[in-house]
Amino acid sequence: MKERMQKIKRLIDEEIDKRLQNDNPLIEALYKSAAYSAAGGKRIRAIFVFLTGDLFDVPEEKLINSACAIELIHAASLIMDDLPYMDDSQLRRGKPANHVVFGQDVALLASIGLISEGMQLILNDGKLTCDERLKVGGVLSSSFGFNGLAAGQFVDLKIKDKHVNFEIIEFINQKKTAALFSAAGRVAAIIGHADEQGTKAIKNFSDDIGFAFQIVDDILDVMGEEKIVGKTVEHDKMNFVKLVGIEEAKKYLKEYHQKAEKALEMFGNKADGLKEFSQYLIERVR
Ligand code: IPE
Ligand code: IPE
Ligand code: MG
Ligand code: MG
Ligand code: MG
Repeated sequence: MKERMQKIKRLIDEEIDKRLQNDNPLIEALYKSAAYSAAGGKRIRAIFVFLTGDLFDVPEEKLINSACAIELIHAASLIMDDLPYMDDSQLRRGKPANHVVFGQDVALLASIGLISEGMQLILNDGKLTCDERLKVGGVLSSSFGFNGLAAGQFVDLKIKDKHVNFEIIEFINQKKTAALFSAAGRVAAIIGHADEQGTKAIKNFSDDIGFAFQIVDDILDVMGEEKIVGKTVEHDKMNFVKLVGIEEAKKYLKEYHQKAEKALEMFGNKADGLKEFSQYLIERVR
């Protein structure tokens, strides 16, 4: 399993590297900025696409572009998240944040470019039928807009700590992180032509494990060390863990993890990969 995850990570790293080659000297710095932030990362969302594809025996070549697309869009969201008028973070993936190296103007344009590139990867994917491209594109594009990442990030930034309650933090974590995360599972289910029951199971698993993933991220923000986590940690910023306390957060983490695994029951042994993956996600330290 670990080997498979590493193999997928290498494949995605190579594909993304190839995809962000440029031969126009006029926009060299823009591409450099995009490639800088598209590199690295754990590639968790791409791995999730491939492991979900395994449930439906999808050949890898039908998943590569969608997996890369999600990673590019995710990378774009990290560039924006770190900007001074957002989280004002200086460190990302063990390196200075994009805007620290390339400036805020270039960082923002690189982020837009990455989102566009991600959507093009799907819309031009010759391994998918037009119907598959349409469905995948629809799920993915809605996951980072007003019903997903943008909405979650907005509330995360704008809500005053004194007004935060459980429902609001739940909204933030579902939208800013679980939405894109969950899209990865749903995209693979679409390409795998999952039936209604399978689609529902994957949606439930994806939503719950996506939420659990952000609880771990919040735990790392509160308790983590920058040199291990590889990004600026925000010990004082309001989040799920700050609101409910560390012990309660761990209980929720366990609950979401159990709920997620339960959704996989119908797949029997075929879901062993996804189970190991979800275990890894909740135990991670970076
Ligand atoms: C970090 O995501 C941002 C969140 C949405 C929580 P990851 O922990 O997947 O970051 P990388 O891609 O490995 O850097
Ligand atoms: C992640 O929220 C949401 C994103 C869309 C990037 P955070 O602000 O907690 O992410 P990190 O901790 O900086 O990676
Ligand atoms: Mg943030
Ligand atoms: Mg942040
Ligand atoms: Mg965080």
